[in-house]
Amino acid sequence: MSQTPSVPHGLPMDRDAGPFDPPREISRLREARPVSPMIFPDGHEGWLVTGYDEVRRLMADTRFSSRQDIGPVHIPYEVPGVPAVTEPSPQEPGLFVSMDPPDHTRLRRMLTGAFTVKRMKELEAHIADIAERQLDEMARLTPPVDLVREFALPVPLLVICELLGVPYADRTSFQADTATFMEKEVALDEKIAAYTGLTTYLSELVTRKRATPGEDILSDLARRDDLTVEELTGIAFLLLLAGHETTVNMLGLGAFALLEHPEQLAELRADPDLMPDAVEELLRYLSVADIFYRYATEDIELGGETIGKGSTVVVSLLAANRDPRRFDHPDTLDVRRKARGHLSFGHGVHQCLGGQLARIEMRAGFAGLLRRFPTLELAIPADEVRLRTNMNIYGVHELPVTWTETAP
Ligand code: HEM
Repeated sequence: MSQTPSVPHGLPMDRDAGPFDPPREISRLREARPVSPMIFPDGHEGWLVTGYDEVRRLMADTRFSSRQDIGPVHIPYEVPGVPAVTEPSPQEPGLFVSMDPPDHTRLRRMLTGAFTVKRMKELEAHIADIAERQLDEMARLTPPVDLVREFALPVPLLVICELLGVPYADRTSFQADTATFMEKEVALDEKIAAYTGLTTYLSELVTRKRATPGEDILSDLARRDDLTVEELTGIAFLLLLAGHETTVNMLGLGAFALLEHPEQLAELRADPDLMPDAVEELLRYLSVADIFYRYATEDIELGGETIGKGSTVVVSLLAANRDPRRFDHPDTLDVRRKARGHLSFGHGVHQCLGGQLARIEMRAGFAGLLRRFPTLELAIPADEVRLRTNMNIYGVHELPVTWTETAP
């Protein structure tokens, strides 16, 4: 394979092709060299993987480790004021997203029963109810309102709090810490303080549940005698964060994308049966959880390149989901597309545990929103919408919307 092009210095981050599209440079690299050598801002050499087949193969191969305690994770973008990481970070108990089998398998297995398709189906009506109640509240407000604050954030948060048994009333304290923790450009000590705040809160919560368990997922885990409080806390942290940050941004950015594609929105309004396909397409098109890291535990061939043992490998799910070798006209949002097979929930052993839950929340959320607000529109020019380019999960910070009528 040719030795060019490669990524010279850090990951291109600019959304220069539009708010929903990958940076132009990332798309160019995918076409030219889907497994590209890259030089991280700290000078370390690694790889960027952007092709659909290559990303899928990589995520299915556990020789690409998810652990952060066996090598430093080289961050692919500049973080002002934050020194480059030169040491591996210790393995936090319970955070199975950054473990490999068999440690990963042991913890994930304890949770699969709680997130089966069947269990999620049973929750469908209840989740639709939660969305409707939130829309009732929004309909009582005088527009313009921020759709993120009034709808996209509360729905997934209410759902995950209820499933886990985390009191919704405590949200103000843990939301501020979550936001700080998820922001890229935050000084390390602030990040550590936010992490400590969150884990202290959750450790007290799971300790109470161990003493007096209730009817929720964390209580079920707390009843087990093969989990430490530290592990319980880590699992709670992972589920609470993964369980709402992502879905919130899919609802917020998804609503923005639909409003910016009025012909697609009209098709969806005219035929609500399109909703399941539309949700898969929005997941593919937006890929809000984009960048993931792996660590090569041996020399591995991928896409005609040899990834050397010890390399940090950066994956772009957004680039993979826009690969023309896999999806026709990949940069077009098409609510009629059969987009299943997208990689937005990852692939392999770490494939999203909450994918089915997220799908149900999005189907109910978008269906309710479009039905109740038939004249929904942006309340500010699209180029003034603040994008979450500074966050690990992409989306919008706020989405000011307005309407002239509501429906029951
Ligand atoms: C893992 C995306 C919603 C819980 C993942 C991964 C992706 C992802 C890409 C793979 C990470 C990796 O390979 O390193 C999303 C998106 C969501 C969503 C786009 C919403 C639209 C949820 C929800 C939950 C959840 C609602 C609630 C429980 C998890 C957990 C993992 C995970 C626990 C780690 C799985 C493991 O390591 O075995 N998610 N997620 N996610 N997700 Fe989601």
